[in-house]
Amino acid sequence: MSGSAVNVPFLNLPAQHAPLKAAILEQMGKIFDNAGFIGGPNVTGFEEEFAAFVGSPHCVGVCSGTDALRFALTGLGVGHGDRVVTVPNTFIATTEAISQVGASIDFVDVEHDTALMDPQKLSDHLAAVFGKGPKDRRPKAIAPVHLYGQCADMTAIMELAKRYELKVLEDAAQAHGATHRGGSAGTLGHAAGFSFYPGKNLGACGEGGAVTTADPAVAETVRVLREHGQAVKNIHILEGYNGRLDAIQAAILRIKLPHLAGWNEARRAHSAKFDAAFAGVRGIRPITVKEHNVSSRHLYIVHVKNRETFRDTLAANGVGVGMHYPTPLHLQPCYKGLGLGAGSFPVAEELCSSLISLPMYPEMTQEQVQKVIDVSIKAVGSA
Ligand SMILES: Cc1ncc(COP(=O)(O)O)c(C=O)c1O
Repeated sequence: MSGSAVNVPFLNLPAQHAPLKAAILEQMGKIFDNAGFIGGPNVTGFEEEFAAFVGSPHCVGVCSGTDALRFALTGLGVGHGDRVVTVPNTFIATTEAISQVGASIDFVDVEHDTALMDPQKLSDHLAAVFGKGPKDRRPKAIAPVHLYGQCADMTAIMELAKRYELKVLEDAAQAHGATHRGGSAGTLGHAAGFSFYPGKNLGACGEGGAVTTADPAVAETVRVLREHGQAVKNIHILEGYNGRLDAIQAAILRIKLPHLAGWNEARRAHSAKFDAAFAGVRGIRPITVKEHNVSSRHLYIVHVKNRETFRDTLAANGVGVGMHYPTPLHLQPCYKGLGLGAGSFPVAEELCSSLISLPMYPEMTQEQVQKVIDVSIKAVGSA
């Protein structure tokens, strides 16, 4: 054992829920008693409150972050035969959404220091496909991922989108409360998808998601899609989905939302301690957060050389770790048909083989933060 004997689980949702349990159970009881499980004041109330938190004119609650991305793409006019540019080092939901609206996935590589979409590579890629070659290689949209809670370079991405007349969908599933040059994640592109999966910075006690957008037409399409394509009852103007945010999840999210800013601050405080402790430690290098970004610190990620040994040492000392994500999407079996072998996106591939996620949640105690630091430094053999 290294440092204190305290264990540090990778995530500790019961610790977040303990002080909120009575309020959550009370709301669940009320909804159970009036059987208003679908729609109603908690859903509209949460949509208004989350729109205000993000600073977006519209928020539409949906069943998951994946639905949010899928519905938002349709709302942006992306469908069969279109191409959408995204990154290979994301959760598969990003690319599922692209494929499931009938579009093709068009990967570009990422920056080594942030693990985010590389604006230079995006620029080169767009210049190439809009320059020469068949028109059907030209994308219709870009879906940057605000990975680990840090916004992609939306200034550069929006400039390119304007130049080539592309729509931009932010994958903000990990970025509730993050900012880029003072603008909030969820207001930087043409639409954004958030996830309220339980472990996210704002998590439901089940599934949930939301689309934010400044475009009322996009919001309306998402509203219709989540409701089996009905604008009014029994008239299906589209073939839609069963994709609603349910009332119990909305009520729980309303209880949690007022805590989100404080929880994000706590994550940033823990991250600052990690950053300071790891500065100059050979063999361990945290992901860079650019000075013009405020990260929601959904995950705290470090590069290490020998990831398996590092992981085993942490586990042996009672510290949980994760990997986000060990295999880049272009090398996943389901995307074999894209014909993109190893070496296609070398930066993403290198990151996927060396990144490891340390425990990161607001409720970590100072003793737990110190334990993660001590064990990590020991694990890279620098202690
Ligand atoms: C980057 C990213 N995109 C999309 C999603 C999908 O969200 P959900 O699990 O709510 O469908 C997630 C979360 O799982 C995610 O991390």
